[in-house]
Amino acid sequence: MKSIKLNLGKRSYKILVGQGVIKELPGVIKSLKFQGPIVIITDKTVAKKTGRIMTPVLKRMPNESFYVIVPPQEGSKSIEVFQETIHKISKTTKTHRPVIVALGGGVVGDLAGFVAATYRRGVPFIQVPTTLLSQVDSAIGGKTGIDLPDAKNLVGAFYQPKIVLSDLDFLKTLPRTQIRNGLGEVIKYAIIRNKGLFEYLEKNIGKILSSDISILEKIVYECAAVKADIVEKDELDTRDLRIALNFGHTLGHAIEAASGYSNLLSHGEAVAMGMVLAGEIALRLDMLKESELNRIKSLVKQSGFSMKIKGITLKTIMNSYGYDKKFIAGSNRLVLPKSIGKIEIIEDIPLILIRTVLRKYV
Ligand SMILES: NC(=O)c1ccc[n+]([C@@H]2O[C@H](COP(=O)([O-])OP(=O)(O)OC[C@H]3O[C@@H](n4cnc5c(N)ncnc54)[C@H](O)[C@@H]3O)[C@@H](O)[C@H]2O)c1
Ligand SMILES: [Zn+2]
Repeated sequence: MKSIKLNLGKRSYKILVGQGVIKELPGVIKSLKFQGPIVIITDKTVAKKTGRIMTPVLKRMPNESFYVIVPPQEGSKSIEVFQETIHKISKTTKTHRPVIVALGGGVVGDLAGFVAATYRRGVPFIQVPTTLLSQVDSAIGGKTGIDLPDAKNLVGAFYQPKIVLSDLDFLKTLPRTQIRNGLGEVIKYAIIRNKGLFEYLEKNIGKILSSDISILEKIVYECAAVKADIVEKDELDTRDLRIALNFGHTLGHAIEAASGYSNLLSHGEAVAMGMVLAGEIALRLDMLKESELNRIKSLVKQSGFSMKIKGITLKTIMNSYGYDKKFIAGSNRLVLPKSIGKIEIIEDIPLILIRTVLRKYV
């Protein structure tokens, strides 16, 4: 088991990474010295897939525990599911303040975190991420929230967990499409901060896609360390440091929005394409060597991501990019790679350049 400390004064916490770390959960709750009931928020698929691992853990819980099960996928980050979840908790826990455990991917983590942040003005919260994406990204850093019909993540709060338990055993049941989805973020961390990780990914991509747990363990640890370091320095996203995590996401979001968040492409695929496009722009601004761009493209391709944006027009992508608030205010901003492991934030990129690189892939 490996441990990373995220230093945030009184709100500091540990991220434990390893096979079997879920066994720490009863002890962690005991150490919180909390008398209330334990509410485990999860989705239907996760409840089923993690049953065998969770049964012995639940038997050792210090306090009474019960599950609140929500439907799987993004639809559960809604006002309706938020309200139903709170209602179930208040009915069952009565006057006691509960501890909330998020057992699941980013959807469950974001929803349960927001429930914990708001229920009775905040109750203790523990993250148990079960997807690659949530172990490397969403479970760390305290961004919680739900979607509104107007936009994703429109309502939320910064609310840090007491601990993150990233158990690699959970990833054994994760479908390959979800491993790939998380891989988009993993490649992002490597390009923004960790050249060694990029080389490791190049060497081990085959084993990663076949869910080799010891390889995934190193990857989760390396990515969690990068995220923890960035969050520590810019917890509330006010110091222009957390923006590095947007690498591949600005153009990626424009592509996702243009697809109407349909199943034309996943978030990971949109981010992978966004990183390639950012690399192409950096090449044309003489910031990035062609050989480095080729390595990025090659890793993205070997990860099984498509190198073409299908079923979406250039015009719709440019439209959704143009609606970006920052752009309307007069200047656009992109995180661009300078080399593998280093990035720079560049402003006022000519639209014609963005259009040119997009045309290559649409
Ligand atoms: N808070 C943040 O900082 C942050 C960062 C990045 C993404 N996010 C959010 O995360 C969400 C995406 O997270 P995600 O990709 O984990 O999606 P998800 O939670 O929808 O999980 C993906 C699918 O995998 C299933 N699943 C989960 N664990 C499993 C397991 N161990 N075995 C088998 N199936 C399993 C789920 O039921 C679901 O169908 C988005 O809503 C996004 O906005 C938040
Ligand atoms: Zn992302």
